[in-house]
Amino acid sequence: MRIAIIGGGPAGLYAAILLKKQRPQAEITVYERNRPDDTFGFGVVFSDATLDNFEKYDPPSYRRITEEFAYWDDIAVHFRGTVHRVGGNGFCGCSRRMLLLILQERARELGVTLLFEADVDDEARFGDADLIVVADGINSRFREKYADHFQPEVDLRANKFTWMGSTKPLDAFTFIFEETEWGPFIAHAYQYEAGRSTWIFETDPDTFARAGLEGLSEQESADRMAEIFGWFLKDHPLLTNRSMWRNFPMIRSKRWVKDNMVLLGDAKATAHFSIGSGTKLAMEDAIALADAMAHAVTVEAGLATYEHGRREEVEKTQHAADVSLVWFEHVDRFWDFDPVQFAFGVMTRAKAITYDNLTLRAPDFVAEVDKAFAAQVRAKGFDVDTAKPVAPMFQPMRLREMTVVNRAVVSPMCMYSAKEGVPGDFHLVHYGARAIGGAGLMFTEMTCVGRDARITPGCTGLWNDAQQAAWTRIVDFVHGNSAAKIALQLGHAGRKGATKLMWDGMDRPLEQGGWEVLSASPIPYFPDSQVPREMDRAAMERVKAEFVAATERGNACGFDMLELHCAHGYLLASFISPLTNKRTDAYGGSLQNRLRYPLEIFAAMRAAWPAHKPMSVRISATDWAEGGITGDDAVVVARAFGEAGVDLVDVSTGQTVRDAQPIYGRMFQTPFSEQVRNEARVATMCVGNITTADQVNTILAAGRADLVALGRPHLVDPSFTLKAAAWYGADVDCPPQYLPGKEQIVRNSVRDRHDVEDLKIKAKPKTRAELKAEATKPLAAE
Ligand SMILES: Cc1cc2nc3c(=O)[nH]c(=O)nc-3n(C[C@H](O)[C@H](O)[C@H](O)COP(=O)(O)OP(=O)(O)OC[C@H]3O[C@@H](n4cnc5c(N)ncnc54)[C@H](O)[C@@H]3O)c2cc1C
Ligand SMILES: Cc1cc2nc3c(=O)[nH]c(=O)nc-3n(C[C@H](O)[C@H](O)[C@H](O)COP(=O)(O)O)c2cc1C
Repeated sequence: MRIAIIGGGPAGLYAAILLKKQRPQAEITVYERNRPDDTFGFGVVFSDATLDNFEKYDPPSYRRITEEFAYWDDIAVHFRGTVHRVGGNGFCGCSRRMLLLILQERARELGVTLLFEADVDDEARFGDADLIVVADGINSRFREKYADHFQPEVDLRANKFTWMGSTKPLDAFTFIFEETEWGPFIAHAYQYEAGRSTWIFETDPDTFARAGLEGLSEQESADRMAEIFGWFLKDHPLLTNRSMWRNFPMIRSKRWVKDNMVLLGDAKATAHFSIGSGTKLAMEDAIALADAMAHAVTVEAGLATYEHGRREEVEKTQHAADVSLVWFEHVDRFWDFDPVQFAFGVMTRAKAITYDNLTLRAPDFVAEVDKAFAAQVRAKGFDVDTAKPVAPMFQPMRLREMTVVNRAVVSPMCMYSAKEGVPGDFHLVHYGARAIGGAGLMFTEMTCVGRDARITPGCTGLWNDAQQAAWTRIVDFVHGNSAAKIALQLGHAGRKGATKLMWDGMDRPLEQGGWEVLSASPIPYFPDSQVPREMDRAAMERVKAEFVAATERGNACGFDMLELHCAHGYLLASFISPLTNKRTDAYGGSLQNRLRYPLEIFAAMRAAWPAHKPMSVRISATDWAEGGITGDDAVVVARAFGEAGVDLVDVSTGQTVRDAQPIYGRMFQTPFSEQVRNEARVATMCVGNITTADQVNTILAAGRADLVALGRPHLVDPSFTLKAAAWYGADVDCPPQYLPGKEQIVRNSVRDRHDVEDLKIKAKPKTRAELKAEATKPLAAE
């Protein structure tokens, strides 16, 4: 078998090693355009988990790599004169040059041919090769040559960065966030061998321009960075090696295989340097390729297995990298945060590290985070314990004169079980159980302001006395038996109206008994849905009056709070999104115009709703569709409602158009809440695939939302908050009838939590840094 490998970086060399071990008879040649030790950059970083993989796949190179490595356990965050350190991270650094020399030596030892200064410009020269591995890096010539086939997408990110080195020793992965006269600069730094550290500097394009970095030579920009970070570098110089400022290209390719040619490493996909995974991905690609080839009958089958089996892992890493890079791109959102909360945000930015996880690793740090959170609550006039505070989820919050006793919220959820809009016994039990379950605030399902405002025949309404009486019964029960506050969500279905019950076909038009539907523009939801009537002024006035009448009834029912539903493609959302609003009057066109009608309704409701009671608005912060609402638009929308007197923005997403492409995942809508909260400076509630109290605490402590709503988790677990409170040692209200149950769960949770944490600690293998520290520790004198 003949294998040609284009590119002698980590991906190409490691693939050569593993394939040669697997097929000693194979003729494997690596073509590298540079000289053997002619490499860019300084250090690379691997996690302990990646090193475990290397140990398994090629012990000799693993041993040599780890002999050369610098280990560290801590991440240190420097911000506004403070430093916060968090241990237990298990990372290692190594010089890129040394890594490549080790891999070259090992490849040679196994009989791989390495050809240097061999720039490959045409793969036709490998006509007799059975396999061509394309590992030619981020600017892959061959990916571009066959771009029609591989279909790469290159997303050139806005921030500028450069890679430098220093002689400064570091004992932690170090992030330094530095305010300058031009704007914020960030250093990502780590040691990779004795007396050598990598320094990646990053800044936003405006700060870059203001600092005059454009056009500076490598040395001049190193001097500028040394001025900014000199207080930390002390007398250590910054070193350069092709240290140009550039923009990071996030690359994804639809296909990785073409005939007998396969893309590996940066050539096929990149991951932002802030999660230090570029070299890891490259070498793990090589592992995946070798695994796939090991059992393959043909090259074609092996490559298909590689492409199929590896994609999910790569996309997961890229997603984590994406989330992380976005955090760094928007660091200004957090610039006025308390330093400990800022550091918590840095640590938890990519979702893998959470509040609970940090509590185990760095309890003092989390205790400080809790204290800072409690201090903010105290500053708002609450008499909370700041010395030994409860977790953020159990801290109270005030909106106008309404106090919620904790930050867990039951999200609005249609039950599709009303008769002529009247909530019945099911609703009483449903809302009652969830109030008793301990949530600080609960929302009603979307309650419709008129008969033809309903989504389905099963939706609740608030346009007549019977409905008002039924809602009053529910509100009275909630107030009489729990500490929960209850908010009424009012909405109008718009073009998604006259549709079937959820379990009969979500959003599908009713076959019989439908009613005329309205929308901003006459665009049906499904091609076979009813074509809505474009609202004229008379219809707009009528619907506005319905919202006001329902508001007054809601107040008479005793609701504590009112939410206007402007999300999910319903009537008011249809005005806001350019995908559903094609009007040419004053209510169409610019975002300001599209917001006009929802704001008119909001203002009319606000005037009818008592001034001491709060109001929120639910928005879709993105349509997840080309040409639709984006996170930046959501900030404008939130600001506009903020100016109109909204107290809370309930940040949801999507459901505007059928062909949307949402990116689901844990807490997938939280980044939009974070953006709206910290750019528009309004209080937000986030929602969406948040399933654990740990996530709730993580979101709150990092300042990504003020309240956290859970929908589906509450469907199956009305007592979500009560159980979480027992776990975290906080107290929540519970009716006297249920006190024995509460006492038991509180007692058991203390023990259960202790046991689980103990197991987690025992199950966690020691990091290499810990093992190394133990091995080098002098024996205690007897
Ligand atoms: C500024 C910067 C900072 C980074 N920081 C880190 C970090 O801290 N940690 C980390 O893990 N990763 C980091 N990376 C990423 C890391 O360098 C890459 O992800 C990793 O090297 C990818 O390995 P690769 O083998 O796919 O590509 P590369 O390492 O780029 O190797 C590709 C090789 O192909 C050769 N080549 C290209 N074209 C041809 C051709 N036509 N003919 C012959 N040879 C060719 C090149 O000379 C090169 O040697 C960083 C990258 C950059 C740009
Ligand atoms: C059965 C069901 C009904 C829903 N009804 C409403 C509703 O009436 N109003 C609304 O704004 N959102 C509604 N939603 C959306 C939820 O409030 C929530 O945003 C969504 O389920 C995502 O949160 P989760 O992942 O915690 O479930 C509904 C969701 C479900 C599952």
